[in-house]
Amino acid sequence: MTDLAQGPSAEPATHVFQAPTGTRDVLPGESVRWQTLVATFSERARRAGFGLVHTPVFEHYEVFQRVGEGSDVVRKEMYDFLDKGGRRLVLRPEGTAPVVRAFVQHHPPTPWKVWYLSTHLRYERPQKGRYRQHHQLGVEVLGVDEPEIDVEVIALADGFYRDLGLSSYTLSLNSLGDAECRPAYLAALREFLVAREPALSADARERLDVNPLRVLDSKRESDAEVTADAPLLVDHLSPASREHFDRVRRGLDALGIDYEVAPRLVRGLDYYTRTAFEFASTALDAAQNAIGGGGRYDRLAEEMGGPPTPGIGFGIGIERLLIAADAEGVLPVVEARAEVFVIDGFGGEADDALVELHRLRDGGYVTERSTGGRSFKGQMKAAGASGARYAVIVGRHEAERGAVAVRDMDSGDQAEVARAELLDWIGERYR
Ligand code: HAM
Repeated sequence: MTDLAQGPSAEPATHVFQAPTGTRDVLPGESVRWQTLVATFSERARRAGFGLVHTPVFEHYEVFQRVGEGSDVVRKEMYDFLDKGGRRLVLRPEGTAPVVRAFVQHHPPTPWKVWYLSTHLRYERPQKGRYRQHHQLGVEVLGVDEPEIDVEVIALADGFYRDLGLSSYTLSLNSLGDAECRPAYLAALREFLVAREPALSADARERLDVNPLRVLDSKRESDAEVTADAPLLVDHLSPASREHFDRVRRGLDALGIDYEVAPRLVRGLDYYTRTAFEFASTALDAAQNAIGGGGRYDRLAEEMGGPPTPGIGFGIGIERLLIAADAEGVLPVVEARAEVFVIDGFGGEADDALVELHRLRDGGYVTERSTGGRSFKGQMKAAGASGARYAVIVGRHEAERGAVAVRDMDSGDQAEVARAELLDWIGERYR
């Protein structure tokens, strides 16, 4: 990262007051959809016994080193920098390592079940559905190694997608094995790939050096041809990992959750062991269709100096999910509507309208008024456009009697209501 002392941004002047490349502003309208997503997710998580966790937006570099030197996220995409105290820090690229760091630091009793809404930063090549800042809804469970928790976690994500009305998506499932079966398998895979190295793409050759598993999920057709007969981990699982995988499958079957076994699914982060899964929207282009993914990371807590503690979780990309929702025509943008609109009949010469506005908001109503000193007619027009069901007209005549006029915006009927009774009067009709 550039030292601030070196001067201003390298961006041309026309760009500096725009959101930086790969980031987006979320404005009202779209943000209502975010609120719906978060409320729906938190309700699902609450029912499944998860508590909300917040971790810092930056961590020590070493926390993410554990995510894997073989992953692009660590090797190429981290926003790391030295702070003014000379500490090497990283802006959070993903949510699992910080949660495990927090677990190791605070050693809460297990099972520890947490959910989060967090901001992630990765220096990616931006395109639709892939940003330099994205947001995830996720869960992590620490301290449970039985396969049925994997099923619970996957079912939580699936239930959340269904709550939103999504139906065009698939679930891919794989097992990445354990410390017993993985080393021998990796050696066999490396041998297979090294023998065919000249035929691999430059990208795949680079992956071969750092993590041969990742060659298997290369999206290039030429690489897919070379690796068509490569040995697959699912055929080399240890008995314990095999049994784990079978029980996860049995549980998903029992819950009626469709999935396909995807022996080449590797995921982009290195900490996974055993269960790995990904949800993909079939309504989106294949390049950016992952709407969520996760898996087990049974060694991560230990690698961070904690007691050996199994873990599993997932992350769901909010921006991606909203693109998928648009493609499926669910979760429409809902315009905010007022319930009550206050009209100032004093032309700004008294504060009575302001007082009624405030009382109505205190009383629980979405209440609007027009600004800019508009005429009575102009305010009535604004009341109509606001979607409010009632216009409360605070005028001189009624004020003399301690009252206001209330107009039903649908029927046009108007009634005089004592100011002291206004909340009750509206309440009887509204709630
Ligand atoms: P991930 O697959 O890197 O996993 O990210 C999870 C989800 O975040 C993806 O499926 C996608 O929806 C979204 N996502 C990722 N990168 C971007 C991006 N650049 N722009 C927009 N959306 C993006 C993890 O981060 C793991 N921590 C998940 C996990 C939790 N594994 C175990 N527990």
